[in-house]
Amino acid sequence: MTDQASILRKRFSQNSTQPRQTETPRFRSLSVTSGKGGVGKTNIVINLAIHLAKMGKKVFLIDADLGLANIDILLNIAPQFTIEDVLTGKKHINDIIIEGPLGIHILPASSGISEMQSLSAKQQMSMLRELSNLKTQYDYILIDTGAGISSNVLRFNAAADEICVVTNPEPTAITDAYALMKIMSSRYQVHHFNLIVNLSEAAEARDVYGRLVRVLNKFLTVNLELLGNIPRDPNFIKAVRHQEPISLLFPNSPAGKAFRTLAAQIVNRSGDTFVEEKETSFWKRLGSWKKD
Ligand SMILES: Nc1ncnc2c1ncn2[C@@H]1O[C@H](COP(=O)(O)OP(=O)(O)OP(=O)(O)O)[C@@H](O)[C@H]1O
Ligand SMILES: [Mg+2]
Repeated sequence: MTDQASILRKRFSQNSTQPRQTETPRFRSLSVTSGKGGVGKTNIVINLAIHLAKMGKKVFLIDADLGLANIDILLNIAPQFTIEDVLTGKKHINDIIIEGPLGIHILPASSGISEMQSLSAKQQMSMLRELSNLKTQYDYILIDTGAGISSNVLRFNAAADEICVVTNPEPTAITDAYALMKIMSSRYQVHHFNLIVNLSEAAEARDVYGRLVRVLNKFLTVNLELLGNIPRDPNFIKAVRHQEPISLLFPNSPAGKAFRTLAAQIVNRSGDTFVEEKETSFWKRLGSWKKD
């Protein structure tokens, strides 16, 4: 199957012979996604944003779980307007961006609006185009997608420079992670994914990673990299109840430390393997859709 995104992917992959650049990329987008719901995506995205902001990075957080938004709840912010207002033409995207902790910019979505969960291709494109028109510059754009394989989820993933799939060690979550990578690879020609294994210690995460790699190697041409693990941490319950990120409330908790390591890993990666993708930044890729 082919569509605009896969055409773009192909076009950009043909450009990958361009010389690498060594400086930190100006734009770098990462979608955090999962096949199975409730595996920790929203908490991961928020806590990674906190650590990146602590490192002095300018971070843009997109709540792409349209219709079931959670970022605002977990950060205890009450956005007056959301992406829905942009899609209905009431607001411009710049008007709805709000500032969260440590100066993180947030694009809030709405909750309880079922129509938002199944946007038409035209609406998706219009929103992605609006995003591409943002003139503000960010070091990192983190996208919290919904769970599953709906077209909203797939399109946001396809637009990101990198995709981070989240799973936990449960067989159902692992199977759904595989299903998501399979569909992204066949429909959008995405052949590289990162993996975060939540609710696990390092050894178990490596085991989950190994199991996924074995199936991927057998059936798909996909490269998977283990970004890291986050241990099960009882402090999460308190942090979520306080509506404050665990990395701010309990920075030295096991999960707080794990998030710090993961954020450092992401920053290191930006200066390494994926820097050649700078030219295919989120904005550029989205902007190019206009031409297709
Ligand atoms: N490492 C962890 N230790 C303990 N609890 C955790 C951990 N990670 C996530 N949780 C808990 O799991 C629940 C689900 O987390 P979260 O909302 O981030 O998942 P999600 O993948 O975004 O869900 P959805 O698919 O519904 O968007 C939350 O109650 C959170 O506190
Ligand atoms: Mg979520």
